Amino acid sequence: MMTNDTRIPDGTLPSTVASSSETFTSRLSHFRRAAPAERRRLLALALGLGAGDLDGLADGALDCLNADKMIENAIGVLGVPLGVALNFVIDGTDVLVPMCIEEPSVIAAASHAAKLVRDGGGFQASSTLPIMISQVEVRGVADTAAAEAIIERHTTELCAAVDAALPNLAARGGGACGVRVRTLERAEAGDVVRGRIVVHLHLDCRDAMGANLCNTAAEAVAPRIAALVGGDVGLRILSNLNDQRMTTVRAVIPFASLERSDADGARQGADVAAGIAEASRFAELDPYRAATHNKGIFNGIDAVALATGQDWRAIEAGGHAFAALVRPDLRYAPLSRWWADSTRASLLGELTLPLAVGTVGGATRIHDGVRLALTIAGSPDARRLAAIAASAGLASNLAALRALATDGIQRGHMALHRRYREEG
Ligand code: MEV
Repeated sequence: MMTNDTRIPDGTLPSTVASSSETFTSRLSHFRRAAPAERRRLLALALGLGAGDLDGLADGALDCLNADKMIENAIGVLGVPLGVALNFVIDGTDVLVPMCIEEPSVIAAASHAAKLVRDGGGFQASSTLPIMISQVEVRGVADTAAAEAIIERHTTELCAAVDAALPNLAARGGGACGVRVRTLERAEAGDVVRGRIVVHLHLDCRDAMGANLCNTAAEAVAPRIAALVGGDVGLRILSNLNDQRMTTVRAVIPFASLERSDADGARQGADVAAGIAEASRFAELDPYRAATHNKGIFNGIDAVALATGQDWRAIEAGGHAFAALVRPDLRYAPLSRWWADSTRASLLGELTLPLAVGTVGGATRIHDGVRLALTIAGSPDARRLAAIAASAGLASNLAALRALATDGIQRGHMALHRRYREEG
């Protein structure tokens, strides 16, 4: 049951646009032909920064002193290439997408796919409010049905207690916005569970990812919850299946943009679109394929997450758990879907997943490279950053399916990497 959830949206809201300028474009000519130092200069100019403002990125922008403040037993830093994907338009605004990844071809492929989506007007994103779930487990409850009713009656009190424990979040316009109770009972032979409930505290975390906020909230109210229902406090921790913090991105690609001619001859755009739709269908039919399909999506999402200092393990955990639950008829589903619409002469694509990202706190506080990557992305708020990461995910997915449905990955994807390097 969901109670006192008046601040949870009944639909989705457009993601906010953090920066917009009439002249700013993510189509940077000569960018890929330039050397890394020149690319930094071109980027800085495009972003209205000083010519050398991004130079700290040349060697990772994290020294050992700061690394030592971030983790324990630090002995150094390990470099991963940071690049920028071009051509992205999201919700009508151009954006340069910072991506940190060791795998060749991902950034070239995402940039190329973003150009195709640009032909159809760019990515359209929407998201829910940034609501995280914090779990309080209670064991040894005598009457779980009565416990559910008691928690429901005390929703206002519990939300107020959470807000009192997180005064800064409440001051920023976030805070507790609902409580849900679930009874965890099982009566299978050899595995009988009774008297166990879990209370979900719903927390609007604004621009924070929110893990620490959730854990603080759970620890603050757990004793009161246990006293109310007459049980023993179990675990108090956020859930990474954050299905209240969802992002959707959509793309429309005119068939004409998918047309291609190469050594094997010409391919009609409608045929390429049909091939991509069939590849998408394969992932719906087969969890073995769905896992690889989703890996291609996370190529884009994780790369943005790493560049911008996000907890990418949390993002992966949430995405895969959602993929396992989203379609009751499937064991594990693809997070995106592509289909051809012949009346619109277009290929359509959609990706929906939980995305807990933050633009305040965490690594943004200490890591200069993360701060610069966020600057490159247009200093987004958390919802815009989620839209950017999801768009990079859908672009990576499109690029992979297009290559798989046409030339095959080795020729299509890897040749793109070689062309990028050799021809510029
Ligand atoms: C490789 O990193 C990702 C792909 O395997 C994704 C896919 O098969 O869709 C190419």
